[in-house]
Amino acid sequence: MTIDHSRVMSPALRSRIMSAEDAAALVPHGANVGMSGFTGSGYPKAVPLALARRIEAAQARGEPFRIGVWTGASTAPELDGALAKVNGIELRLPYQSDPITRERINAGSMEYIDIHLSHVAQFVWFGFLGHLDVALVEVTAILPDGSLVPSTSIGNNKTWLDQADNIILEVNSAMNPAMQGMHDIYYGTRLPPHRKPIPILAPGDRIGETNFRCDPDKVIAVVETNAPDRNTTFAAPDPTSKAIAGHILDFLGHEVRRGRLPPELLPIQSGVGNVANAVMAGLEDGPFTGLTAYTEVLQDGMLNLIRSGRMTLASATALSLSSDAATFFNRELETLRNRIVLRTQEISNHPEVIRRLGVIAMNGLIEADIYGNVNSTHIRGTAIMNGIGGSGDFARNAYLSIFMTPSTAKGGSVSAIVPMVTHVDHTEHDVQIIVTEHGLADLRGLSPKQRAAIIIDKTADPSFRPALKDYFDRACRMSPGKHTPHLLDEAFRLIQPG
Ligand code: COA
Repeated sequence: MTIDHSRVMSPALRSRIMSAEDAAALVPHGANVGMSGFTGSGYPKAVPLALARRIEAAQARGEPFRIGVWTGASTAPELDGALAKVNGIELRLPYQSDPITRERINAGSMEYIDIHLSHVAQFVWFGFLGHLDVALVEVTAILPDGSLVPSTSIGNNKTWLDQADNIILEVNSAMNPAMQGMHDIYYGTRLPPHRKPIPILAPGDRIGETNFRCDPDKVIAVVETNAPDRNTTFAAPDPTSKAIAGHILDFLGHEVRRGRLPPELLPIQSGVGNVANAVMAGLEDGPFTGLTAYTEVLQDGMLNLIRSGRMTLASATALSLSSDAATFFNRELETLRNRIVLRTQEISNHPEVIRRLGVIAMNGLIEADIYGNVNSTHIRGTAIMNGIGGSGDFARNAYLSIFMTPSTAKGGSVSAIVPMVTHVDHTEHDVQIIVTEHGLADLRGLSPKQRAAIIIDKTADPSFRPALKDYFDRACRMSPGKHTPHLLDEAFRLIQPG
């Protein structure tokens, strides 16, 4: 592991360089720690592991040691995984996708607050989440004036650095210094009633500074590392995700022909996961050029669109790349720097900007009901999968709000289309289009009963259609209220047999 010692350019902060163990020793039991990290990028790589070892040792001595962990979004095994394994997290927010963390939350041994990603920073500014004791943030470099060059994600780092009493910095030599200049950190946010419009009129508009401000007096430790990001692996698009992508591309083409979308479309937001990535791959082969993105996470598929010239600009808060795509990103950074803007997550996901730009939002789901309510977070209504992430920020404010999913889960045994969702993340009022491999249901301008008819016909798997139709027909006859007909005693029977 080679460390580039020239990355810490501030003489004052050079004197605070120490080992990860020594830095971890500065975090007390009960502290709330705001950590960098967003979808597997830009998370601290060394101190959380050292903290996990310290927690384990304290627990072996019979001493309590747990902390609150706040991040941008999901991180990696070296952070969430390691701390969850030693049961060192008392409370986690705002989004996770780690298997051990998920297990802890669902077992009831870790508290979890699932918040819209655009809300997290302002909840901290408002004081709604309590006190932030420590910021633990990975950066690419510390400049001579003490300002910080961000790494591969921005997330809530600006807020952590501003609000925490103490700051621990990890300076990662594996981060490409050529990223400097790619980020846009907006310092113009205010608390109500002093807020002003966010002056972003196009996805590429830069409204802030390229580096984080940082009060050197708050920095209690600087730890030098050299470690790559988690690097997501994406599955090659399978026939199901290709079919979903095909329906979406046909629909977008149709909207262009109807004059409801310009030929270059509108800025795209693409959610996490393989299906989202497959839709981006589909755009590569489609007729659209001059594309832009105003999104949260930039995955491989979107990077490929930039690479091929089909996409001219992407605004996000984080990269989430496979190792091949990360290699390409680092090689071509000089060119890419002008085509990618990384922002704080309160701006990448800001409802005002999303509404103004007219974003086309595309997100995954766990289940949708026949009226268009969407569950993105819970399995059988009680167990968390990941979290709402930014899907609510985008869905409610988008020009087009699209949700996509394979029509079945668990080898075809579970229908993603159900009579009534077991948990609601996106209400029928925020969901315009549902797509599965079987087809696309355009719900705009339809009443609940009209929506039910086309959701069942176009999106449900044929093996589940008769049961859904039968439920809907009987509900239409027997439901006491005929606006959104339901049979409450059997609404969940399809989902939870027995
Ligand atoms: N019943 C039971 N399990 C279900 C299910 C259902 N109806 N639907 C999905 N699952 C399970 C899958 O089997 C899979 O489990 P496994 O990992 O044990 O195999 C898991 O949920 C994930 O499903 P998958 O089909 O792989 O979907 P995905 O990777 O596309 O993720 C979401 C789908 C909804 C979990 C994901 O999009 C998400 O977390 N969304 C919320 C956050 C978000 O939208 N962020 C983007 C905003 S910018």
